[in-house]
Amino acid sequence: MAKQTTKFICNGCGAEYVRWQGKCDQCGQWETLVETIVTKQDKGLTSRTRVAGTTSVPQSLASINTEKVARIKTGIGELDSVLGGGIVPGSLVLLGGDPGIGKSTLLLQAVAGIAKANPEKELLYVSGEESAQQIKLRADRLAIGSKTIHILPEQDLDTIIATIEQQKPLVVIVDSVQTTVSAEIASGAGSIAQVKHVTESLMQIAKSTHTPIILIGHVTKDGGIAGPKTLEHLVDAVLYLEGDRYQSFRVLRGIKNRFGKTSEVGIFEMIGEGMSEVKNPSQVFLEERLANTSGAAITSIIEGNRPFLVEIQALASRSYFGYPKRTASGIDLNRLNLLIAVIEKRAALDLGQFDVYLNVVGGIKIRDQGTDLAAALAIISASKNKPISATTAIFGELGLSGEVRSVPHLEVRIAEAIKLGFTTLILPRQKQGSTIKKDTNIKVIEVRSLKEAMDAVL
Ligand code: TYD
Ligand code: MG
Repeated sequence: MAKQTTKFICNGCGAEYVRWQGKCDQCGQWETLVETIVTKQDKGLTSRTRVAGTTSVPQSLASINTEKVARIKTGIGELDSVLGGGIVPGSLVLLGGDPGIGKSTLLLQAVAGIAKANPEKELLYVSGEESAQQIKLRADRLAIGSKTIHILPEQDLDTIIATIEQQKPLVVIVDSVQTTVSAEIASGAGSIAQVKHVTESLMQIAKSTHTPIILIGHVTKDGGIAGPKTLEHLVDAVLYLEGDRYQSFRVLRGIKNRFGKTSEVGIFEMIGEGMSEVKNPSQVFLEERLANTSGAAITSIIEGNRPFLVEIQALASRSYFGYPKRTASGIDLNRLNLLIAVIEKRAALDLGQFDVYLNVVGGIKIRDQGTDLAAALAIISASKNKPISATTAIFGELGLSGEVRSVPHLEVRIAEAIKLGFTTLILPRQKQGSTIKKDTNIKVIEVRSLKEAMDAVL
């Protein structure tokens, strides 16, 4: 017999309460509790009768078969590597990202890749966001026309589950968790109670039918998928597609993966034919730069395990107001202010007369402090109107006393710079017996302070 109960669920954090209250004790928000009807299958068991269950025999660790599960490759190398080598059968993967960033496009391409490699298998793309015609238009644009890809414009969870059970597709895409609704939950589509229930149900169906499901989730303004991080621990893997909507580069990052490492990242470019893999990002980011212009410095960031060279550009223009302007894009404004303070104090340069703009080329957002020295030198170069040589790459974190500090993974950063033809490297002073190779064609300048670095490059 089905038993109906009601619960009060906080729309902000997903906390559950038996009674209504004005404020959520968990997240402290007011008026966020909504009454939700939960239908539970009553198995006619009370907690007391359940005690007499059958026992299950645990396996010894050594006897467990570790034969490699065959992963399903999407054929998109960057996506496969972030997934840990392909899609694991029976897994539920959540792909999050801002609206319009390219999630549907990427997964449609992934489905096409899977279809190509498995021509005898059926694939299912469920969309509660777009009509079949809209998806067809996109597929045409991406030159995808496989007969084995089935499109299901559907929002009802039960219909979706029934279709999966009946069709037994190789892989299922559900676009998106916010548009899928279950009749069992009283609150509307996209509410915490709904997205939680939808995710849990899809997890169950993925496990019971051994069908991998990739679920799309839009990131809300405050950065979580459907508000809080509630969904992240309900699924096997969480990937985020990031980037600036108005720039073409996208970074695909794994932030949780039960079947692989989370240190992998994939780089894509959104072009007319969909998401295109960027195999050599450093080269792309540096492609359009002008040699010998002031205010530009090359440095590297580490994304996952991969080093990328990026260009940091600064512009220092005369300030006509008493209060000079500081604008940063791709880098934290507080970091820019701090760098300016260090430059003024430790390099004895007056930047009070300049408006300073700092930009990281390609719409890349950097959090890596190993780029400090390059950013500072770009600002100094701009204010003095003296270019830094186009073959110089700069690595180092800057301390408040103007000291240049070491950066993690220096060897890989250096290797990437050398690979792309940089011949002068500015590095933090190395300890005795450092393993930095002394290549005769490469000029390595080790610096201890901002002042030393400034003298070396300008
Ligand atoms: P979409 O995959 O619909 O984003 P999401 O599912 O994350 O909301 O992609 C939306 C944007 O991508 C849209 O503004 C158009 C652009 N786009 C291209 O630039 N090239 C293409 O080939 C496609 C299909 C989309
Ligand atoms: Mg979409």
